[in-house]
Amino acid sequence: MRIDIISIVPEIFHSPFSNSIIKKAMNKGLVDIHVHDLRQYGLGKRKNVDDYPYGGGSGMILRIEPVYQCFSKLLLERDYDEKIFMTPDGKLFSQKYAQDLTEKKNIIILCGRYKGIDQRIRDHLISKEISIGNYILSGGELAAAVVVESIVRLLPGVIKNQDSIFTDSFQKEFFIAPPIYTRPKVYKGWAVPKTLLSGHHKKIKDWFDKKSMQFKQDSDSLD
Ligand code: ADE
Repeated sequence: MRIDIISIVPEIFHSPFSNSIIKKAMNKGLVDIHVHDLRQYGLGKRKNVDDYPYGGGSGMILRIEPVYQCFSKLLLERDYDEKIFMTPDGKLFSQKYAQDLTEKKNIIILCGRYKGIDQRIRDHLISKEISIGNYILSGGELAAAVVVESIVRLLPGVIKNQDSIFTDSFQKEFFIAPPIYTRPKVYKGWAVPKTLLSGHHKKIKDWFDKKSMQFKQDSDSLD
């Protein structure tokens, strides 16, 4: 799978992509991630990428020309299955959608900044708009890193113990992972549930099943 990310602050991705799972997946050739600096496609000597909104209003808007130039270059090189724009007013991201994206061969992720982006980019260049939650970040970069991490860890071969993925929360819709414990059996008087120490496989399985059947409620948000 190949992921092309377009951003005016590509440095933000250095840390999340140079550690742990994503780095390992890249080294193993399981995913190919390219971060493009949109400023390289900026206008004029100053490589300008933003401008004031028509009709007035506060904040700067990402211009269409640099984005179009960057998209055109990529689209000449290969076909893309999905061209995603990270935005708080997009569709809410989910484990199910992360799983769907693992089936794609090539995707572009465009990160917004400033007040927003010229609507013509959304109308003509983008195929999907994704939000990671109903709150506002200063740009789409951290949201894109979240999306990339959630896709990459699902790619076959990335996580050694594939079984651990299937017991993650949300891997089945609305189900949460059961509580888990390790040594010591008792700490400051707080004990591990007896069933888990019983050695009785059937009882242990029933205990885990019962706990992970608890539905995640919509009302579980922090507002
Ligand atoms: N850009 C700014 N806020 C965002 C959010 N919540 N999700 C996706 N992209 C964003």
